[in-house]
Amino acid sequence: MKKLIALLLALVMVFALVACAADEVVEETPEEEEVVEEVEEEVEEEVAEAVDVVAGVFWYDFSDAFLSTVRDALDAELTAAGINFTNYDAASTQATQNDQIDTAISQGANLLIVNVVDTAAVDAAQAIVDKAAAAEIPVIFFNREVDDAVLASYEEACFVGTRAAEAGEMQGQMAGEYIRDNYDAIDLNGDGTISYIMMKGELGNPEAEARTQFGVEFCNAVLVEAGKPELAYYDANNADKFQPSNWSKTTAFELMETALSTNPMDGDAPIEVVFANNDDAALGCVEALNNAGWNTGEGDTIPVFGVDYTADAAAAIDAGKMAGSILQSATGMAETVAALAANVQAGKAVFADAEANFNVDEGTTKIRVPYEIKG
Ligand code: GAL
Repeated sequence: MKKLIALLLALVMVFALVACAADEVVEETPEEEEVVEEVEEEVEEEVAEAVDVVAGVFWYDFSDAFLSTVRDALDAELTAAGINFTNYDAASTQATQNDQIDTAISQGANLLIVNVVDTAAVDAAQAIVDKAAAAEIPVIFFNREVDDAVLASYEEACFVGTRAAEAGEMQGQMAGEYIRDNYDAIDLNGDGTISYIMMKGELGNPEAEARTQFGVEFCNAVLVEAGKPELAYYDANNADKFQPSNWSKTTAFELMETALSTNPMDGDAPIEVVFANNDDAALGCVEALNNAGWNTGEGDTIPVFGVDYTADAAAAIDAGKMAGSILQSATGMAETVAALAANVQAGKAVFADAEANFNVDEGTTKIRVPYEIKG
């Protein structure tokens, strides 16, 4: 009630000042204009009253390796900003996440920070935006991409993530140059063509789709430019040209073990390079290769490329078990989300000043955090 009265008083002040300013338009001197502007600014500040933010932070799955690093960073950022928050684990189930959001709103959450579970269709994110709009609270999506139209349906909805294609483009470029520069050593069976395996993150996830496509396309462009043939999938019968590893180290390990059983490293058609949409999957492949005596850090090694540049991947690169990764900034993502939460805390629109401070996609409320090559 107190807040409502304060807001009404502030509004009355704004109307009074606007009326005054309008009356004086004709005979205002520059000095007077300045005074009016100053007063108006003060009033604006008064209207943008600090809010006690109670944020619900909804994660698609606590077991995801990269997102665990984002969670650590975001916990630290929100704590430092003095924002109350609770983390929720949907354990990869959209229905669970929906229930968690309903409960949080009914318990007084006034900011939703959402890593949506279902990214293959727009419905899940739209339903969450609808819940936020009905409760008149802002929603910040992050990492798992949300459609432009979904964000456009509510002025207090926005997204913090990466440009999905960028990691694939960088990985493909890095792999292409690496293979071009070491071609004969990588072409283990000497047939003139490099055979690869692709660990795809999650079907329908925009990042997985883009990394799978552009990783290979950009690598092929470098090879063709160097007069080499394009990559060939290790299993000619696989029309999809990927294995569905679902961002998971264990799944990638199992898929790689199976691949190595049909295409053993000491056979005629060995796998010569590994592309993985994320580091955890890359590390699963390294473990399977280790079981076959490869990629132990010395001796026989094939290049393995990932994305995220997690601490484990950085260690594997240093040890010579992986060839490279693309850094996805967990801290950059967390800092950006926390800055938007701080807007809400300051009583401003959630996306206030975003264009001035971040890399925003034109015509949307999407902020893109850049990647970096780590070879
Ligand atoms: C990606 C990240 C993956 C995984 C995924 C979850 O950005 O590279 O490791 O965390 O998000 O959707």
